[in-house]
Amino acid sequence: MMTPITLLEKRRIVLGVTGSIAAYKAADLASKLTQAGALVDVIMTDAAQRFIAPLTFQALTGRAVYTDLWRMDASAGLPTHIAHVGLAEGAAALLIAPASADAIARIAHGFASDLLSITALAARCPVVIAPAMDGSMYENEAVQTNLALLRQRGVLVIEPEEGRFASGLTGRGRLPETAALISALRYALGRSGALSKRRIIVTAGGTREAIDPVRYLTNRSSGKQGYALAHACLDAGADVVLITAARGLEAPFGAQIVSVDSAKQMHDAVLSAAAGADALIMAAAVADFRPASAAEQKIKKLEQADAPTLILERTPDILTAVHDRRQITGYPRVVVGFAAESRNIREYARDKLERKGLDLIVANDITASDAGFDTDTNRATIYDRGGGEEFLGLTSKARISEAIIARVAALLAEKG
Ligand code: C5P
Repeated sequence: MMTPITLLEKRRIVLGVTGSIAAYKAADLASKLTQAGALVDVIMTDAAQRFIAPLTFQALTGRAVYTDLWRMDASAGLPTHIAHVGLAEGAAALLIAPASADAIARIAHGFASDLLSITALAARCPVVIAPAMDGSMYENEAVQTNLALLRQRGVLVIEPEEGRFASGLTGRGRLPETAALISALRYALGRSGALSKRRIIVTAGGTREAIDPVRYLTNRSSGKQGYALAHACLDAGADVVLITAARGLEAPFGAQIVSVDSAKQMHDAVLSAAAGADALIMAAAVADFRPASAAEQKIKKLEQADAPTLILERTPDILTAVHDRRQITGYPRVVVGFAAESRNIREYARDKLERKGLDLIVANDITASDAGFDTDTNRATIYDRGGGEEFLGLTSKARISEAIIARVAALLAEKG
């Protein structure tokens, strides 16, 4: 089940499907885009219809599928001479996935002999192309030159993945999974948003503090809220640096990823990215304590000996270090912290807002089972410096992120 994505809701996305064995994956893509709230108009080339039927897309999107430039009945009753213009007009984006070598060549060279090529010519919206073909075809200079031409014209080309082909050979040319395709589409759609040209740092996940080479102390943070925030920033057009201690989450398309382990590494990464940044959103659950010294070798379990005693020390507080730096440099211009509390939420959050010199603090109640750590939903309150409180009832981490990002955009707009 796909949750709604605000950026896609009620937006018309033209999905071009071309002749590649990966065409079957476009059915999942059309379905997930529809579930996310988009109105998906599918155009299929003749070759695509040899791999998958138009009916599949019609059933999944609940909308007409366009296959033929000349036939009235295949153009959902639209007069054929305007169908191609009509499809491009008012579309939020044109996504071609999978894009065959043939389709890429036609579009790169401005052909107008089939409905998809004509729609690409008429399109004034962002165009995203996901090539999928055999590895040797993808590497061919003709294909690469055509892709370079498209990139030059502002088309977003999604790099195919490496792996096994239907032919049994391996190489680069596989269509990425649906989530990665949607992430790239979001990136293209978001570029002109309210945070366009803003540089935002987001931290995510729970840090790991080494006890020895194989053991560490950590916490229950999954990184989901931080990743949702990074997505929301990208949806609003920002350039995002995602400093993450989380594992196993799909990297949002277009974010610069900095992987870290410990609180100290996160501290150093945040401080070096903070210079010149418009905003910092500290969603990471940074360890407050770490072993005073990590053993160089694995600590052995000796039969007769007692269990070892761990001596802990404080980790550096990243937000306090950022606050000190900001008083001199003025950057990051907006700083947002999080508070995970189990009692006296308002009091602790307000105190933290002051002490850490924050513009906003987002407090969540970690005692609820449907909110906080490792859930897809959250329940939070945003406190600001003017004494304001915005309560966000139980909702998705994506919606919480959008509310936070709207506040960050407003603060940045105020600062000019
Ligand atoms: O003081 P507390 O850990 O509850 O504050 C939470 C906020 O402070 C979060 O935004 C967290 O990312 C940040 N933090 C930090 N450095 C630490 C611990 C927490 O910046 N060492």
